[in-house]
Amino acid sequence: MRGLMFTEYLDYAASLVSDDVIDAIFNDLGDEVTGAYTAVGNYSFNEFAAIHVKLAEYMGVAPDELARRFGYLLLSRFKEIFPAYFEGVESGLDFLEKVGAHIHGEVRKLYPDSSPPNITLHRIDERSCELVYRSHRPLAAVAQGLTEACFDEFDDPYKIAKILPNGNQTTFILERI
Ligand code: HEM
Repeated sequence: MRGLMFTEYLDYAASLVSDDVIDAIFNDLGDEVTGAYTAVGNYSFNEFAAIHVKLAEYMGVAPDELARRFGYLLLSRFKEIFPAYFEGVESGLDFLEKVGAHIHGEVRKLYPDSSPPNITLHRIDERSCELVYRSHRPLAAVAQGLTEACFDEFDDPYKIAKILPNGNQTTFILERI
């Protein structure tokens, strides 16, 4: 998994808990984790999961809820780091479509050792769409937070009406409010 995800995640963690808690998390995990990450590196997803589960435990929050909150915040970070992807985009639905059709593809070209998930938007009718998330990583909750943030960022009158997990694929039913 890209180091960028680790550095963003640890910045997020540092905004939630004290340095002492972060130190305690890394102490608890010991050799299980590298402990120092750079945005350009690449690290095992298991390390990410181990840090995340520990942080959730220290905070007394369900891991999926914490992952959703991280995803929500991540969109504003992507906007700061990759502003060009947001230029000229008029809606959250258009942006989600662009992530699947273009942005994650660019990421794959830019970093051949990366493996961003497949995100596909299907427009069903005037009122509803399906967003399909497919990944070998169980991070549908991060996708959920990113999707919610997309709607808020572009003022889209949409919400996630249903979440249908199915193995390594999760379908989000999006409905007009
Ligand atoms: C400017 C917009 C975006 C950029 C530049 C971007 C880029 C990336 C990058 C670099 C990764 C790490 C891949 C790896 O570690 O191999 C990633 C992962 C991820 N992206 Fe995006 N992304 C964007 C928007 C979105 C949106 C809107 C969604 C939500 C639907 C999304 C869903 C995810 C998820 C859930 C992951 C975690 C890895 C996984 O689930 O397998 N991304 N993205």
